[in-house]
Amino acid sequence: MQILVTGGAGYIGSHTCVELLNKGHQVVVVDNYYNSCAKSIQRVEQITGKKVKLYEGDVRDKKLLDKIFKSNKIDWVIHFAGLKAVGESCEKPIMYYDNNIGGTLALVEVMQKYNCKKIVFSSSATVYGDPKVLPLTETCETGGTTNPYGTSKYFQEQILTDLQKADKEWTVVLLRYFNPVGAHSSGLIGEDPQGIPNNLTPYIAKVAIGELKEIGVFGNDYDTPDGTGVRDYIHVVDLALGHVCSVEKIKDAGVYIYNLGTGNGYSVLQVIQAFSRACGRDLPYSIKPRRAGDIASCYADCSKAKKELGWEAKLGLDDMCQSLWKWQSMNPKGYKD
Ligand code: NAD
Ligand code: UFG
Repeated sequence: MQILVTGGAGYIGSHTCVELLNKGHQVVVVDNYYNSCAKSIQRVEQITGKKVKLYEGDVRDKKLLDKIFKSNKIDWVIHFAGLKAVGESCEKPIMYYDNNIGGTLALVEVMQKYNCKKIVFSSSATVYGDPKVLPLTETCETGGTTNPYGTSKYFQEQILTDLQKADKEWTVVLLRYFNPVGAHSSGLIGEDPQGIPNNLTPYIAKVAIGELKEIGVFGNDYDTPDGTGVRDYIHVVDLALGHVCSVEKIKDAGVYIYNLGTGNGYSVLQVIQAFSRACGRDLPYSIKPRRAGDIASCYADCSKAKKELGWEAKLGLDDMCQSLWKWQSMNPKGYKD
């Protein structure tokens, strides 16, 4: 199949391109490089020995999308393009709503025009807000998001669901990711955050290579086994394979919602220990106050994806930390030379 991957030069997008190409699909990417660069796509081609058709530009640019759909017979769109920094979304809400919601609206409008009605959307566990029950199933209540980034994901889910309600020919797949971490086993592609990372594992990796002094653990007084926050970390390669399964297995129109996680929750201290094993030394950390907006625990029930897609995460926390350490040590400055 020919698949348009929006945001394909980014972290999850580049790993998904690799797995799609490995399965013999053709990949077309559109990315404006707001949070990435073309080098990741060169690396994708290096890993797979296959070519990616690349368009530089914004998914809100309908003229560009027209050109892409006119020149390529697209079977499915996997829509990663979006802004994702929670803190920044609170400072610049309009930029987040414009980019994320504006991007999705422009995309589906042009898809409809070219009669391409199959989309996989990158959603997030954040749509569940503060979980009332754990593990989270797809039927748990959504909404109650606490920041514009999360709200934009919730709105985009609603928009795509309404679209399918109005036009039953659409296939809408909403994948709710838990915490994607790790990197490709080659060490050639990985997450390349700009500036000081907000997320836990990229921050740990920067401490491990000596770029940052110590890890700050945001709170040790949560109602969790060791008092630190618990999350469902999922290897980015497993996550990428969840997208491949979606486009290969789903044949009928409709709305499909899946949690993509491992079903296991790990605490911040457990992640620091696992990373210390991966890099071969104890990493310094200190306990800091809780971070505003954080929840105590979040982990998934992923049985629906297993039952319906035949997908389940195979890689564990040690694989996640080892692959991230390999990427970080082979590319201390990320994609920058
Ligand atoms: P990323 O920033 O690495 O990738 C997003 C890509 O989209 C980047 O290459 C960026 O340049 C591009 N982009 C952004 N706006 C664009 C636009 N208007 N037009 C064209 N390209 C645009 O992020 P990621 O971690 O790979 O996340 C991919 C998707 O998954 C995002 O939608 C994100 O919100 C979602 N998600 C990520 C996580 C996570 O923790 N990484 C968790 C849940 C959901
Ligand atoms: N944490 C620290 N120190 C740090 C960074 C994080 O202790 O320097 C803790 C947090 O308090 C939390 C855990 O590590 O308990 C994980 O935090 P992350 O920032 O790595 O991830 P979040 O669970 O906060 O959020 C991530 C993405 C969101 C997404 C969500 C669910 O950043 O975009 O997962 O998919 F919505």
